[in-house]
Amino acid sequence: MISAKMADSLNKQMNLELFSAHLYLSMSSCANEMGLKGTATWFLVQYQEEMVHVMKFYRYLVDQGINVGFLASKAVPNSYASLLEMFEKTLAHERMITSCINNLLEQAVKEKDHASQVFLQWFITEQIEEENNDRDIIARLKLVGTAGQGLLMVDAELGQRVFTPPPGGTQPIPLV
Ligand code: FEO
Repeated sequence: MISAKMADSLNKQMNLELFSAHLYLSMSSCANEMGLKGTATWFLVQYQEEMVHVMKFYRYLVDQGINVGFLASKAVPNSYASLLEMFEKTLAHERMITSCINNLLEQAVKEKDHASQVFLQWFITEQIEEENNDRDIIARLKLVGTAGQGLLMVDAELGQRVFTPPPGGTQPIPLV
């Protein structure tokens, strides 16, 4: 049993995770248009990971007897000047998500909601990895600058990323 206030906050976060999924799917499309196929793959995997996050919130809320609500979503940007801009926007977005997750945990602590505290721990750890990945890529992009050959090298590295489904966890929607 969770409070109506906690359920509402978690429901909002589920919708924010869905927005994240759409943001990264859009970035995948932009990268594809820029001829950066590896980056397109990286963001497609990021989209899949976000769908796992969505489904984790969905499952938790439904298991707590909550009828989830899908809220109106704002349009996602679909134009970026460079790969560096794309990843800087990604890092900024993930920092915002980290702050939201921290606020949710603070709310759960304040409400003495132990179940939600345990549930949110996974996201606390996940956000460290998300921000770290983005920082690493930004550092490499700054090293290569705007040189085409360097960018293609980073793009090829990004294309190696594969989606790993969570063990025994909720699966995202199937993808190509
Ligand atoms: Fe679901 Fe990228 O945080």
